[in-house]
Amino acid sequence: MGKMLITGGAGFIGVNAADHFLSKGWEVTVLDNFSRKGTDINRAFLEGKHQSGLTIVKADIITDQDVLNQLCNEVDVVLHLAAQVAVTTSVTDPRSDFECNALGTFNVLEAVRQSSKKPMVIYASTNKVYGGLEHIGVEEGEKRYSFAGGLQGVTEETPLDFHSPYGCSKGAADQYVRDYSRLYGFDTVVLRQSCIYGPHQMGIEDQGWVAWFMIATMFKRPITIYGNGKQVRDLLYVDDLVAAYDTCIEHRKTVSGHVFNMGGGPSNTLSLLEFLAFLKDDLGMEVEYSYGDTRPGDQPMFISDNSTFEQMTGWITKTNTATGIANLLEWLKANKDSLQQFYST
Ligand SMILES: NC(=O)c1ccc[n+]([C@@H]2O[C@H](COP(=O)([O-])OP(=O)(O)OC[C@H]3O[C@@H](n4cnc5c(N)ncnc54)[C@H](O)[C@@H]3O)[C@@H](O)[C@H]2O)c1
Repeated sequence: MGKMLITGGAGFIGVNAADHFLSKGWEVTVLDNFSRKGTDINRAFLEGKHQSGLTIVKADIITDQDVLNQLCNEVDVVLHLAAQVAVTTSVTDPRSDFECNALGTFNVLEAVRQSSKKPMVIYASTNKVYGGLEHIGVEEGEKRYSFAGGLQGVTEETPLDFHSPYGCSKGAADQYVRDYSRLYGFDTVVLRQSCIYGPHQMGIEDQGWVAWFMIATMFKRPITIYGNGKQVRDLLYVDDLVAAYDTCIEHRKTVSGHVFNMGGGPSNTLSLLEFLAFLKDDLGMEVEYSYGDTRPGDQPMFISDNSTFEQMTGWITKTNTATGIANLLEWLKANKDSLQQFYST
């Protein structure tokens, strides 16, 4: 095993990735500015579980170029997750979104380009780079939309169409990561992630809707469905995503320079209405909600076609939504007291 830098390593996906790679014997440096609520809980979890191999650095990818330069000279892999993650925030404050996602990623790439070690870069991009997919079109059913023409999933051949400042900043970074591999010859891979969910997801109304709906129900906070609730998403359980990161490292030369769609795929999809019905009928949660206007940049539906990555690496999704949601609920219940401080008011 080697050394890894995880930017945003105290966030939801980051803490799961750090835990996984530390458990496998990697030396992991978590770099985070701890701006996201709940990162202290994740930090305490990692420090409590991993007595060796873990270094935590409080730094900012926008301003701390010298820290990035130093760390990128020491590691074999950079898992770049740090980001401004909410579409809504990107609309109200596009400059800080741009600085974090576009400039922050550029800073990471520059640190790698100028390093002597040239670590592999794995970048967490987003399906938002495909925009509203208006050219595909959707059909409206009773509880969900479906793609027109029977399409099962969106491939990497789909034209880019950045919607929202978040889509633009993440999309710009996605293209920079790809081009730095082409131009400067080091190994990078871009994963265009769908909705990710699982333990340690401290969702808020603006981001992380799967966890947010469950947390809001637990703490009796109001849930608003923006739009008609028939929006469909493919859900990827965080362990399967972390396994994909591991697969990228294992198949470093095969995946280098590529961009892959990475979601739950056609067999792990839910509409918002179906998810709320699942919480009520299968998990016995008392769900209450009201409706609001559709939010800017909200795709009516997205389902990832993962087949390029599957065929190139052999990776497949292993956790179905019923199991994954039950695992998330278990984690939320076990951490209810710590979560109370953020969600009770
Ligand atoms: N969760 C999803 O469903 C999803 C889907 C698609 C893409 N992604 C991408 O995956 C990555 C991780 O997402 P997440 O869900 O774990 O989000 P998260 O908010 O839980 O984690 C992001 C982390 O980055 C840190 N951070 C933010 N700005 C920073 C800065 N300037 N410098 C250093 N650290 C900073 C935050 O404190 C946080 O810990 C992001 O790049 C996101 O865009 C997530």
